[in-house]
Amino acid sequence: MKVRKAIIPAAGLGTRVLPASKSVPKEMLNIVDKPAIQYIVEEAAASGIEDILIITNRGKGVIEDHFDHSFELEAQLASNPAKADLYESVKKCANLANIYFIRQKETKGLAHAILAGKSFIGDEPFAVLYGDDVIINDKDPVTAQMCRCYEKYGKCTVGVQAVPEEAIHLYCSLGITPIDGEDRLMNCYRINEKPTKEEILSLYAILGRVIMPPEAFGMIEEGLAATPEGKEFYLTDVFTRLGQEGRLLAYDFDGRRYDMGNKLGIMQANCEVALDHPEIGEDFKAYIKALAASLD
Ligand code: UTP
Repeated sequence: MKVRKAIIPAAGLGTRVLPASKSVPKEMLNIVDKPAIQYIVEEAAASGIEDILIITNRGKGVIEDHFDHSFELEAQLASNPAKADLYESVKKCANLANIYFIRQKETKGLAHAILAGKSFIGDEPFAVLYGDDVIINDKDPVTAQMCRCYEKYGKCTVGVQAVPEEAIHLYCSLGITPIDGEDRLMNCYRINEKPTKEEILSLYAILGRVIMPPEAFGMIEEGLAATPEGKEFYLTDVFTRLGQEGRLLAYDFDGRRYDMGNKLGIMQANCEVALDHPEIGEDFKAYIKALAASLD
């Protein structure tokens, strides 16, 4: 079945990037000249996703404004032929896809946020693009790569990449087996969350993109109902169950990933995207070279 819908959870507190994220959602922090979440919406749209639901909460209305028309600004830019490119870039934000919003009324974790999309999704598979994970591949967007896997095998597919051994304890570690005839796609039978050295199954960790079957909502509901008040039910628990039942695939996606949920990730994203930027790339490269030469 074709994947037509996506959920972008963007209702977290973003404590790792405070104070920047106090009144500006971390999903709206920019990478050169666009907010992180615009890269993510563009990836979904370029992957053939028609309807996108962004999960927000109180204080994140600025995300809605960004994907809406700004009539006064557009009228001003349209009246000046020298600003035709800017006009197009501003107008484009409101026309990227059919974008809908819903609020997660309490910040109870990623699984709880995704459940807010249940009636929007209905009975079909859907993509989840984490609102603070920007993944760049202009030729073959990562969500498109992953939709092809789902459409071939009909199983929940988590996007993974190998992380450095010294960092795997911050992520999860996947138990995987190869699939005949597949290069990047694997069966995933087990997940060890934040593993100790002894618990490392592989260096593959789940990073920011998932294609889920509609049954996932029932699993989240069951999990939340069984979770004591004040404790979080993790999305990983849904993947663990699917893995035990032989219904989980892991796809080693091809793309440059930036974690906009931490300070170093934000700086890496800005530097690398700036180096490729048609307007400032050359000047920025000269600046970086001179800066690097001045460091000891
Ligand atoms: P994170 O795990 O980075 O959580 O969320 P966070 O709360 O935003 O960040 P820290 O740990 O406090 O710094 C991954 C994605 O899931 C969304 C976030 O907005 C982010 O895009 N999320 C997280 C929700 O939508 N709701 C939640 O309750 C938690």
